[in-house]
Amino acid sequence: MTSPAITPQAFGRFADLIYRHAGIALSEQKQALLVSRLGKRLRQLSLASFQAYYEYVTGEGGEEELTHLLDLISTNKTDFFREPAHFAFLRDRILPDLAIERRIRIWSSASSSGEEPYSIAMTVYDAVPDMTRWDVKILASDISTRVLAKAASGIYDEQRVASLPADLVRRHFLRGRGNQAGMVKVKPHLARMVVFRRINLMDEAFPIRTALDVIFCRNVMIYFDRPTQSRLMAKFYRYMKPGGYLFIGHSESLQWIEHPFTYVAPTIYRKD
Ligand SMILES: C[S@@+](CC[C@H](N)C(=O)[O-])C[C@H]1O[C@@H](n2cnc3c(N)ncnc32)[C@H](O)[C@@H]1O
Repeated sequence: MTSPAITPQAFGRFADLIYRHAGIALSEQKQALLVSRLGKRLRQLSLASFQAYYEYVTGEGGEEELTHLLDLISTNKTDFFREPAHFAFLRDRILPDLAIERRIRIWSSASSSGEEPYSIAMTVYDAVPDMTRWDVKILASDISTRVLAKAASGIYDEQRVASLPADLVRRHFLRGRGNQAGMVKVKPHLARMVVFRRINLMDEAFPIRTALDVIFCRNVMIYFDRPTQSRLMAKFYRYMKPGGYLFIGHSESLQWIEHPFTYVAPTIYRKD
């Protein structure tokens, strides 16, 4: 079944709504994407037009549907150990400096389905000689409740770990049997290191009380316009310890925006 057409007015309204709530700037070229992602939802709700869906989402009681809409719009592509240089930097440069304190707080701020925070957990677990003497907390958050539920389950298709070293998979994942065959699940020692929460990066304040050593904000800023990126950087700075590190995605840069961080290496920044 094909989706109903969207009028330029309705597209403009959705683009505005999505920008206000998620900071995601949808250009007109993204119209087809919006139609394909929301069209199915319209049919599920038996709504005849995008305008009707807009009224439903913005009307009384529409907040829940708004979460759903933002789930549909966000692009969740991720991988275990995506952009491996960041994990090597964490292991070789950050953890050794904390060896006396033996305490680290890390935030994976657009965690998607969990591959990023579990990769952080594996890196820390394997690098630290005695985990029982370390105090490690990894906060993993995303705007999408759908991906967070997947992340919290810790269950993945085994194809997702097929390119990782076999001994790493053996150490950190359980293989499913019976009706779970073909699936893997992160072992409890990793699951214990990570807490998942829904946090919208557009929020004025974040529910974070302890200053952070490391923030991963990778492959999400690309959807935000420059003023939004700049505001986000100022907020991250507030929640970080002096000497803390920020990692951004490989196709992202802070070069063209105002921000308080010091450049360390491509996609790596520090709060001095
Ligand atoms: C492409 S994934 C990146 C995942 C991971 N960081 C990586 O690099 O592999 C982008 C994630 O950003 C999330 N996202 C989009 N807008 C957001 C917002 N305003 N606040 C928090 N998360 C957001 C999406 O739901 C999606 O899961």
